[in-house]
Amino acid sequence: MYLSGIEEKMLNGEYGEVIEKAMKVIVKVGETLGAERLVEISHAHVSGVSYFNIGDEGLELLEDLSNRGARVLVYTSANPYSFAGSALYKDSSLLEKQMRIVKSLIKMGVDPNSFTCTPYKLRKPGIGEHLAWAESSAVIYANSVLGARTNRESGLTALMAALVGRTYYADMHKIENRKACEEVVVLFDINSILIASLLGLYIGKVAQCIPYIRARYRAESELIFDLMVRNMLASISATSDLPMAVLEGVTPQHTYVIERSEIISVNLKELEDMDLKCYSDTMLIGCPHVTLDELKLLLMDRHLDLLKKQGIQRIIVTVPKYIEKRDNEVNALIQRMREKYSIEVQILPGGCAVVSNLRFLNFMTIATPHGKALHYLQNLAGVKPCTIHV
Ligand code: F3S
Repeated sequence: MYLSGIEEKMLNGEYGEVIEKAMKVIVKVGETLGAERLVEISHAHVSGVSYFNIGDEGLELLEDLSNRGARVLVYTSANPYSFAGSALYKDSSLLEKQMRIVKSLIKMGVDPNSFTCTPYKLRKPGIGEHLAWAESSAVIYANSVLGARTNRESGLTALMAALVGRTYYADMHKIENRKACEEVVVLFDINSILIASLLGLYIGKVAQCIPYIRARYRAESELIFDLMVRNMLASISATSDLPMAVLEGVTPQHTYVIERSEIISVNLKELEDMDLKCYSDTMLIGCPHVTLDELKLLLMDRHLDLLKKQGIQRIIVTVPKYIEKRDNEVNALIQRMREKYSIEVQILPGGCAVVSNLRFLNFMTIATPHGKALHYLQNLAGVKPCTIHV
């Protein structure tokens, strides 16, 4: 692999042991993928932040790195963490370990306001920017909607890329690999987050390569349109390892090439298998995370009347960490929901339900419109998911 002078120095240990090790990881992975060189990145996004996922070994690795002086070279955000870092858990040792993980990342230079799976809401990459992002739902959004370029990194390779400010120039970084090679024609209107999610889960299951998706969206505002697209893409990435989908009219031109062969038509009936019909009085919103403005739209009166009719008594909402700073607005929203609808709302900045062991909290079922949560909640969080229309 060709390395520039500074990259050679990094690899040879001239900038210290941590940089040397990080560079070795990036070069090794790059060589395995046939990369001929590295590329500078503008933004890294790290996953593997939940104590339930990385355990004591992961915690020790992060603390060791941060104590040995590891510092990110580029803007770096991080994924959400488990509910063990929130007031929902009463276990102080879990809380302490979860927050040590968060502190180690912040010490290395990760943006303390991030801890979100929608890092593009904090720092929106431009068309053609090279990134090293972990978190499949963010990767597919960056490639498909923003026209940026990132592979689906692991938590470790994203962190190593952050430490050296580079990643290997391979796969999604090269235009010739951003090739849509089958066409998906959607035969119904996408008019809700749930429908967008179920469609995404289905496409992820049937697509053999990057799909070119032709669909009509019926959204009452730009924010709702973006929520639908985000949920469809997150769902595709849950049931497949696809890093990108080309969305007709959405994906920026000149960020992909087309070599279509097969045409797949999808009608509503084909989504029935993914529709998990069961009942829960608790609902999850925010997988991927929602902003406060999006949440207010979702909690509008006409939606709430519907949720009440479906028996919802409690809503758990996961949002980016920075929303903690808007506690006046958050408190007003919670109070309104309690007084007007008798619905308890818990807003968890920086949290993710899927990487939390929800059995600890005595949940048996959770209703959600989010495809990624529908796909993972049972196996990863230990609760049965039910679909709910939003
Ligand atoms: Fe985000 Fe966790 Fe869902 S990382 S996309 S809230 S599984």
